[in-house]
Amino acid sequence: MHFFEPVATTAFTLRPAPEDFKVDCGPDGAPFRPDAVAVDPAGEAVWGALAFGGDEGIATARYWVAPERRGARLAARMLKAAAPGLFAAGAKRFEVRPPVRDQAAIRAALRAGFRPDGGVSRGAAWDGTEAMVLGLLPNDGPGPTPRVLPDLPGGMLSDDTVSLRPLVPGDFEAHLRHRSSPDVYAGAALPLPPSAQEAREICEWRAAVDWLRGRSALMVIDDGTGYQGTIGLYDVARVVGTGMIGYDLSAAVRGRGYATRAVRLVRSWAFREVGLDRLWAGTDVHNAASQAVLRRAGFRLEGVERGGLPTISGPRRDTLLWALLSSD
Ligand SMILES: CC(C)(COP(=O)(O)OP(=O)(O)OC[C@H]1O[C@@H](n2cnc3c(N)ncnc32)[C@H](O)[C@@H]1OP(=O)(O)O)[C@@H](O)C(=O)NCCC(=O)NCCS
Repeated sequence: MHFFEPVATTAFTLRPAPEDFKVDCGPDGAPFRPDAVAVDPAGEAVWGALAFGGDEGIATARYWVAPERRGARLAARMLKAAAPGLFAAGAKRFEVRPPVRDQAAIRAALRAGFRPDGGVSRGAAWDGTEAMVLGLLPNDGPGPTPRVLPDLPGGMLSDDTVSLRPLVPGDFEAHLRHRSSPDVYAGAALPLPPSAQEAREICEWRAAVDWLRGRSALMVIDDGTGYQGTIGLYDVARVVGTGMIGYDLSAAVRGRGYATRAVRLVRSWAFREVGLDRLWAGTDVHNAASQAVLRRAGFRLEGVERGGLPTISGPRRDTLLWALLSSD
């Protein structure tokens, strides 16, 4: 399974690593000995490296690009160059397990055509943390893997008042403070504040990974003064063309129309760029402000969902079901 033959591409040559070559992973990581290195056309400088593993028909690889060569999608090209040889040597599946916090490594695999078919696997990454497991089969095609939820155009959605952007690790403190506020979590599906660990995980990797896996797109609402709340497209079911919208604003900026603007921006993105046909949202029967937001954004009331959501005390509560079709 570790069989490897040199591959020459127009940009680099992938060849067996010299015996004494080790990848220096910096102060935080243990160095590793790769099986293959990508060298420049003159054969002098090591630009990147691959270490193969695996068994029973599944080949795995760890990949690394020299810091000065990053940003040119070399990792994706190395993975693509190595794949045919591994399949020819008998691998039925080529699997990579980048750490969930390493967005560049996950995106490199997606660009190389690997599909996020293995979920999040605890302790499975090359640094011992949670991994996103992606697999490539011999007939999967050259990539990139189509994304159910594309990146936002230019990294954000905006009108002349608010902008929406993906949640990032630096949002942790603002996100925890916001979601710990009773007037914010009272409107959540399960009205509880998050633990600090949950909030940290969402900001550090869970929101980004769920976006890349096509599950949900969680965005920060910013009015030019920073984090003011969130809006998300959740429960995305591409096969039936549906998704759910949920949002929250900090009390200090309510009543300014920010939520309606945010829903309109997500609505357009979901219909035009994601290709969904039906958006739905649930509100508490007493939440007049949220109902007005949906009505202003074009949603129609479809009925009462009996016991739509749980409560802390036990009996489920009824919710109102709102929906908007792309054809409305
Ligand atoms: C992961 C790695 C191999 C990728 O190298 P690369 O091929 O140069 O990757 P790029 O910089 O071209 O980025 C790949 C993708 O990630 C994106 N990306 C890069 N940095 C990012 C970041 N900080 N956050 C989010 N996305 C990022 C790029 O935009 C690109 O996306 P696209 O293909 O959708 O356009 C390289 O960063 C690396 O070696 N990291 C260390 C990995 C490692 O093994 N560490 C421990 C052992 S030494």
